Amino acid sequence: MKPLLIRGGTVVNADREFRADVLCEGGRITAVGTDLATPAGCETLDAGGRYVIPGGIDPHTHMQLPFMGTVTRDDFYSGTAAAMAGGTTTIIDFVIPDPQEPLIDAYRKWRGWAEKSAGDYSFHVAVTWWSDSVHRDMGTLVTEEGVNSFKHFMAYKNAIMCDDETLVNSFRRALELGAMPTVHAENGELVYLLQAEMKAKGIFGPEGHPLSRPPAVEAEAAQRAIAIADVLNVPIYVVHVSCAESAAAIAAARARGQRVYGEVLAGHLVLDDSVYRNPSFEYAAGHVMSPPFRPKGHGDMLWRGLQAGSLHTTATDHCTFCAEQKAAGKADFSLIPNGCGGVEERMAVLWHEGVNGGKLTPSEFVAVTSANAARLFNVYPKKGCIAPGADADVVLWDPKATQTLSVKTQHSLGDFNIFEGRTVQGRATHTLSRGSLVWADGDLRAVRGAGQYIKRPPFAPQFAPLARKAELEQPVPVAR
Ligand code: URP
Ligand code: ZN
Ligand code: ZN
Ligand code: ZN
Repeated sequence: MKPLLIRGGTVVNADREFRADVLCEGGRITAVGTDLATPAGCETLDAGGRYVIPGGIDPHTHMQLPFMGTVTRDDFYSGTAAAMAGGTTTIIDFVIPDPQEPLIDAYRKWRGWAEKSAGDYSFHVAVTWWSDSVHRDMGTLVTEEGVNSFKHFMAYKNAIMCDDETLVNSFRRALELGAMPTVHAENGELVYLLQAEMKAKGIFGPEGHPLSRPPAVEAEAAQRAIAIADVLNVPIYVVHVSCAESAAAIAAARARGQRVYGEVLAGHLVLDDSVYRNPSFEYAAGHVMSPPFRPKGHGDMLWRGLQAGSLHTTATDHCTFCAEQKAAGKADFSLIPNGCGGVEERMAVLWHEGVNGGKLTPSEFVAVTSANAARLFNVYPKKGCIAPGADADVVLWDPKATQTLSVKTQHSLGDFNIFEGRTVQGRATHTLSRGSLVWADGDLRAVRGAGQYIKRPPFAPQFAPLARKAELEQPVPVAR
């Protein structure tokens, strides 16, 4: 791989922006500064007028996921390649063991599937059941495999849902290992009941999906998970926060001093639940994901959470099922495979609505599209930062370029685009993945298998104050 010098751009990191050249050698950034000398044999890229930003990190994707009786369209190759076309160079995907399946076995299976990745990848591992072997496997995953986050589905009853006993045991274990517990917050019992009620009322179409998962169902689970985390003195990360009530629960906990972190999906920021009342089954079902898109107004509260710093990361939950897969729920909305795409569109949607919309600075955009995820999941500044020593995951971002998002032009193998027809300004013109130019002016040069598995060390910075707090608040018996 030849060295590459990016000249004359404006580097944007989460803390500041400044004019600088960026030199990439051997997969790393080796120099950032003005008027850098061009080493022998070096290629150059003129960034004139463009921003030079860290490659995006999507901390929530599902490539090649077996789910609801089928498997997502995008595998680890097509999904990570599509990501690169949008400026995202790293994904954190999910290992989801079946109940009773050893965590390590599931992890090995997913590692095998992910070997075809074009871009870098890491894994959260879901805890879907509890036993001594799960306790042991969590330890092995953290100490030997570089997993530092565990996921808990509070929804999907009779499948991967975990009960409070599992949440409590797993959160405790995560704390002693220095791993971040994360939750999909929806009360699975309520969803199960409301799905049956909707069908009893004769509602079988996709409109039954949001009706069976109202905001209170999400808020209850978010509050419960936050309260459990508070009692156990463990940090917690709430994935795909979709409604004002959950965002408020996180903000309130943070205002009390609790270390709670929230993730927002690009789709939840810009879409609303009117999509489910569309007369076309394919269109409505194409939007079926959990939590569902919410009534108008909720998105504004999610933006405010990002602006206020009470929500931290943006993701997509990229999980593509095509029309014939969604058709499994033609006669019963509860059988529509849950999931939507977006890994390629996230950065452009965030820039357009966030920066152009007057809600985010370019540095705040970098914080919520890469740096914050890198910090929380402990790979900063290897990822999420333009600085010497960091991986050369670099994006040239043209704030003037426009594109109209469409299934016709997307690189994802899904056959639907939840952002269809949206014209956005600001896009990745060039993407470097560990120093290799993988996207250049519309030319996708993703290489199957070139992505690396990213190990993430335990005890991210948010753990130290919690340990100190526990020490200071150690209960003492009364001497009698
Ligand atoms: O609908 C969704 N989000 N599908 C993927 C699984 C999950 O809940 O994250
Ligand atoms: Zn233990
Ligand atoms: Zn989820
Ligand atoms: Zn998900």
